[in-house]
Amino acid sequence: MEPITFKDYYDNTVKLSFDDHPFSAEPKHVWVLCRFRGQWLLTEHPRRGIEFPGGKVEPGENAEQAAVREVFEETGGHVSSLHYLGQYKVDGKGGIIIKNIYYATVDKLLLKDRYYETNGPVFFEELPESFEGQQKFSFMMKDQVLIQSLQHTKERFL
Ligand code: GTP
Repeated sequence: MEPITFKDYYDNTVKLSFDDHPFSAEPKHVWVLCRFRGQWLLTEHPRRGIEFPGGKVEPGENAEQAAVREVFEETGGHVSSLHYLGQYKVDGKGGIIIKNIYYATVDKLLLKDRYYETNGPVFFEELPESFEGQQKFSFMMKDQVLIQSLQHTKERFL
């Protein structure tokens, strides 16, 4: 399928696809839609606000390992299943970044005194219908990537 193309919150061009790694076989970033005990599991980033966990793939690890690690660092969640959903490519001022999108279930949550780069886990029974103008949510939650990825997750897993 042709990727869909749109602008993000910062007016950067994004291409999104649910095919098997259409933009890169070894992307350097990951984003993980997580669920824990029937709720959505997100994290609060001190500057960006509430978002699903994710980040950069570190040297020596693959994207799946990065996804599991980032979920733990940012939420304390232990990933029990991880499913590839799709990939997106952002053409931004600082260059191109490519991210794998995953759906993960978390079976255990470790409450920690400190979380790496975040203020820790945030739970939602239901996500808001729209994130527009909602300051407490990160820009990452405010484009078609989330809407489409949630749609795919619901069709395949919920
Ligand atoms: P560090 O993690 O501190 O290195 O921050 P950074 O913002 O420099 O790193 P990163 O390479 O993750 O992001 C660079 C830019 O790409 C951001 O400022 C955003 O504009 C854009 N970007 C990163 N992730 C996303 C995303 O998930 N969605 C969208 N639309 N843009 C993103």
